[in-house]
Amino acid sequence: MFIINEDITALSGKIKKLAFSDRKDKTSEYTKITARPFETKQGIKWQLEKHKNNQVFHENLSEADFLSWCETVGKDTFRQACLTAEGTTVQYTIFPDKTKRKVTGNDIAKVETAKHNKEKNYILPQGANIPALVDLGVFSKDFTVVKSKYDKYKQINRFIEIIDDSFSKMNKDEVTILDFGCGKSYLTFIVYYYFTEIKKVKAKVLGFDLKEDVVRHCNETAEKYGYDNLKFYVNDVTKGEVYKDNVDMVITLHACDIATDFALYHAISHGVRHIFSVPCCQHEVCSSIKKGGDFDLLLTHGLIKERFSALLTDSIRAEILKRCGYEVDIIEFVDFAHSPKNLMLRCKMKKPLTPDLSEVEKLMKTYGFEQKLYELVKK
Ligand SMILES: C[S@@+](CC[C@H](N)C(=O)[O-])C[C@H]1O[C@@H](n2cnc3c(N)ncnc32)[C@H](O)[C@@H]1O
Repeated sequence: MFIINEDITALSGKIKKLAFSDRKDKTSEYTKITARPFETKQGIKWQLEKHKNNQVFHENLSEADFLSWCETVGKDTFRQACLTAEGTTVQYTIFPDKTKRKVTGNDIAKVETAKHNKEKNYILPQGANIPALVDLGVFSKDFTVVKSKYDKYKQINRFIEIIDDSFSKMNKDEVTILDFGCGKSYLTFIVYYYFTEIKKVKAKVLGFDLKEDVVRHCNETAEKYGYDNLKFYVNDVTKGEVYKDNVDMVITLHACDIATDFALYHAISHGVRHIFSVPCCQHEVCSSIKKGGDFDLLLTHGLIKERFSALLTDSIRAEILKRCGYEVDIIEFVDFAHSPKNLMLRCKMKKPLTPDLSEVEKLMKTYGFEQKLYELVKK
């Protein structure tokens, strides 16, 4: 995680303000941005005070959005940041590849202790009695995180935090959720646990995957803990409709290649309000794209072509979802160190639209690639 975000999380409740200054690029719109947290019924929000030509503009963000903003806009735009908290000031110098920090007032140890204490406030803290996580191999028998599963633990914790942030605004006491390409289903179990045990909401959670043995084990584990409305199905999600009834949320975590497109299409075609999707193995565009336009340089070296194609795929997915009426954010849901596949498409239906896909079509024509979500939406 970006070090400033770690400190925001660690010093939660004590922060007075966080100021970003010293623009990297003098043509950037704002010379300085100061953010202050404030409490609302929906949880902590942050007010941004943006300075431009002796004028000040304000914007309010949820904490999750603010953290994403810090990690992208804040980090990319400014060289300096200063976090002022009770008894502590942390000064940051932001370089392209690292961020240095200097703590005054309190010593680093106190900030580290606060960080450690905050860890205990994870939605799924180490030591929490979640037996299904032991069966799935994420927690050991004493409920500490198994070392080799630490990255997965970070991913599912963060995924749940992001869902939690949206759920607080949903005002629902019953939810139906589909997980496409659920695999060993760490996330699927935890989503069920979160809604039923933490939020005390009636939840129906269904996971779909190709692998029979994995699905069998997941169903046995769900039965073992009396998770009656958590079910797993052997299902190739690219072969037709997986579920007909009303759904509130579609989730995917690293569902391979076009399995993600079928998940997104299910949401679009069934009017599902919320999508949280972390794509993976975006092979389709990479294997069909050809040189033909201004970005040919990015298609010359295999490694760059692969990464460019993955970003292009997710940009096209985001564009199609937006054109279909979703509000779409692309956020870095965990630090790169915990997964290089760390972009999440977080989408909320605003108003269904007949999509104008001309921008996407222009790109497809220039570079001759195929893209499954486009094909599904277009048919
Ligand atoms: C990388 S794993 C991720 C599993 C899980 N979501 C997680 O994050 O731990 C991708 C999963 O997608 C499943 N998958 C790939 N293509 C699929 C398809 N067409 N239909 C259903 N599942 C699929 C694979 O079997 C695999 O279990």
